[in-house]
Amino acid sequence: MNIELTVNGVRREFTIAPGETLLELLRRTGYKGVKKGCEAGDCGACAVLLDGRAVNSCLVLAAKVDGHTVITVEGLADDGTLAPLQEAFLDTGAVQCGYCTPGMLIAATDLLNRNPRPSEEEIKEGLSGNLCRCTGYVKQVEAVKLALTRMNGGNDA
Ligand code: FES
Ligand code: FES
Repeated sequence: MNIELTVNGVRREFTIAPGETLLELLRRTGYKGVKKGCEAGDCGACAVLLDGRAVNSCLVLAAKVDGHTVITVEGLADDGTLAPLQEAFLDTGAVQCGYCTPGMLIAATDLLNRNPRPSEEEIKEGLSGNLCRCTGYVKQVEAVKLALTRMNGGNDA
């Protein structure tokens, strides 16, 4: 079966296998930033934006996304310039082994798209579907707050 999918702004045609998930399709076609974790919807490592909303791509059949739009972590940077969230994750030390980072960035992007001024509780809630074995989650919340400060023109010094 063939599908058309717009990935990171580029419309592409893919031949998919029966039962193939969006996670499997994206990884085998070069979007390695989409991480394979639990493959059961529990860890958030595979999150992408599907038509603007974060989903766990391991739970989405590739056949169901024909004609839709996906943004992976590779699509968050703008022509090589990191997005404010990406910069803030680096600057706060929220990236350790980095395995959870793409999913965290997708979840945080979804959150800020829906709620441009989230409270700390709302940030924690927004990242609650993403597991991290390294950081204890404090750094990621700090990173989102730092990105917000910078995006709103504040001084983070
Ligand atoms: S790999 Fe998809 S939620 Fe864990
Ligand atoms: S930084 Fe290692 S799993 Fe989150």
